[in-house]
Amino acid sequence: MAPHTEQLTRSAVRLRGLTRSFEGRTVLDGIDLDLPAGQFTALLGHSGSGKSTLLRAIAGLDHGVAGDGRLTAPRRVSVVFQDSRLLPWRRVLDNVLLGLDGKDAADRGRSALAEVGLAGRERAWPGELSGGEAQRAALARSLVREPELLLADEPFGALDALTRIKMHHLLRELWQRHRPSVLLVTHDVDEAIVLADRVLVLDRGRIGLDLTIDRPHPRSYREPVLGEYRERLLAALGVTEDHT
Ligand SMILES: Nc1ncnc2c1ncn2[C@@H]1O[C@H](COP(=O)(O)OP(=O)(O)O)[C@@H](O)[C@H]1O
Ligand SMILES: [Mg+2]
Repeated sequence: MAPHTEQLTRSAVRLRGLTRSFEGRTVLDGIDLDLPAGQFTALLGHSGSGKSTLLRAIAGLDHGVAGDGRLTAPRRVSVVFQDSRLLPWRRVLDNVLLGLDGKDAADRGRSALAEVGLAGRERAWPGELSGGEAQRAALARSLVREPELLLADEPFGALDALTRIKMHHLLRELWQRHRPSVLLVTHDVDEAIVLADRVLVLDRGRIGLDLTIDRPHPRSYREPVLGEYRERLLAALGVTEDHT
């Protein structure tokens, strides 16, 4: 099988029986999950439902998960958080290049910054960037590592509505060009619907709904068919629109 075909049929993430408790309270209750290579998946759930806990477990950042859960994940994984986590004492390009070596690293860093629309800002300090620009830089820092899996934990949660829409376009373009598997944690139903191939709802420690969004990209928030997906997701989240 050609490597490309093989990649499309392979699971990037395979999770079996993941359980996580804190002080006797079970947050994740035996989760089974497969994320096919190259798929864009969104994870929705109420605040405190365990979204970040699940993402941290997949990222391999959580050493306290129960021993019988099994996880397979790719080698090159990048994580983006709500806060850009740029080091304030390093210039933007140096932040992107942090921990990277190789002769062409600087060139790759510059081209990643150009891809996220930050060409010319290589020598800026993080403090000089807007919130949206800082998240662009964080995306460039992920991209330059050519991740097979991109994990994003509410990466646009702190941005204003207009900046967030621009970031949606950017993330979708980057995903289409580089095709990592993406797991995007969000509490924004519309963000999930316009971006993802598949939307999961985390509820009481389990995947309560696993919805495929079979619509071509780019999608508009106004497509009527998306309204049906929105209703199903809101219902799974226990929100009914007629009472709001
Ligand atoms: N390190 C921790 N110690 C104790 N409790 C935690 C820890 N991390 C998460 N929790 C608890 O687990 C639950 C799920 O948290 P989290 O995964 O952050 O939720 P979400 O990202 O969906 O808002 C919350 O009740 C939170 O308080
Ligand atoms: Mg969270």
